[in-house]
Amino acid sequence: MANNSDYAFQKCINPECAATFDVAEILVKCPTCGDMLDVAYDWDKMDVPGSLKDFEKRWTRTNPLDFSGVWRFRDLLNFCPDDCKVTVGEGQTILQRNDALAKDLGIDAGCLHLEYEGLNPSGSFKDNGMTAAFSHARLVGATASACASTGNTSASMALYAHSTGMSCTVFIGSGRIAYGKLSQAMDYGAHTLQIAGDFDDCMRQVQAVCAQLGIYLVNSLNPFRLEGQKTIMFRILEQLGWQVPDWIIVPGGNLGNSSSFGKAFAELKQLGLIDRVPRLAIINAEGANTLTHLYNDRNLRWNDGRPDADLVQEFYDDLTARKYSPRTVASAIEISRPVNLTKCLRALDICDGVVISVPDEEIIDAKAQIGLRGLGCEPASAATIAGLKHLLADGVVDPSAKIACVLTGHPLKDPNLTVNYHKDNKGKFSNPPVEVPNDLNAIIKAMKQA
Ligand code: F0G
Repeated sequence: MANNSDYAFQKCINPECAATFDVAEILVKCPTCGDMLDVAYDWDKMDVPGSLKDFEKRWTRTNPLDFSGVWRFRDLLNFCPDDCKVTVGEGQTILQRNDALAKDLGIDAGCLHLEYEGLNPSGSFKDNGMTAAFSHARLVGATASACASTGNTSASMALYAHSTGMSCTVFIGSGRIAYGKLSQAMDYGAHTLQIAGDFDDCMRQVQAVCAQLGIYLVNSLNPFRLEGQKTIMFRILEQLGWQVPDWIIVPGGNLGNSSSFGKAFAELKQLGLIDRVPRLAIINAEGANTLTHLYNDRNLRWNDGRPDADLVQEFYDDLTARKYSPRTVASAIEISRPVNLTKCLRALDICDGVVISVPDEEIIDAKAQIGLRGLGCEPASAATIAGLKHLLADGVVDPSAKIACVLTGHPLKDPNLTVNYHKDNKGKFSNPPVEVPNDLNAIIKAMKQA
């Protein structure tokens, strides 16, 4: 068997540059032109199964890598030897067919599916990417890691760092993180720096710090992170009996997920493992809608790898001039300078994508509705269902289309928001506790009123 570095490498996404680098180099952008990097493969030199169904042969619990919902697809992201691969049992997530929610939304029975990424060990989809980033960190011998985070990246990083004996530092915006997530970072032993700023400030600072101090950066700028996140799509296909859905719906924050989904489908198509790609809908919160603005209002496109960089710069300069800081209750996606913007444009191109924004009230109602009908999720994840309602009303998504919504985080990530929503009793799905005296008759009376 060949070495992984014989067939896996890093490659600049800019087609005019397309420079390549060894898989064992630690890079977060192309040293030649400054654009983003992909992990790329010489597929002919690899053992890629002839059909996706072949992956079923690996469904065993004896080898931890075969149990991992990420690494059991390792032939499609095989950038390091198996003994570098780290797993804490990530990716045991389910795709739930949810007819009750489908009915609420006017979607045909059997068509709406919810992918519960909150079932991951740290409670969000980030573990899919972090297992891959930390496997690369082991390959290159890193000992210290860091990230900027709206919360879930930090929880996941801290878990993997503590599982691999690496140190880790988290940069979070002061007051910008849900308590469930902050509690995890502290509990897993992360060195937690609360910066007086927002996520975008933290992202800028952590990059500078990592470059200066030689620390391994695990944000989704790191191309290895996105390799792991491809497997969310593999698991959706798997749970649909290897059928491709018509739509994938995902919240948009730093745009790592959407970028990795586009890459996953492009590769599967190139390898002949699927015959068509699904369409992609990315949902922003209205208070953090850079992608919606640039894609819908300014017509920014991938443009064969030459997106209009001046347009983006002009937009960011305006944000800076206005001292703009994004605001949404969906704190996970409270981001106005998404680092994966260019890769996301590529994904929208690959998947004939659409982008929309939804207001906070609709996100919070949708979150409660998902809880009422299914296993629940955190606010950012519910942007998917809030967005889907608009896409159905606008005739973009057909009620008979097969839809998979990625619910990115667990409901317990942000308990404060949930408690307030129900206790305030102002939302469409508010369900406050009923106060009852400590008296049997009063309790029975209250029971009958339910
Ligand atoms: N949903 C949740 C629950 C998230 O935590 C995030 C991102 C997103 C959606 C957006 O995903 O960046 O791939 O578009 N959270 C990051 C963090 C930024 O730091 O935890 P994306």
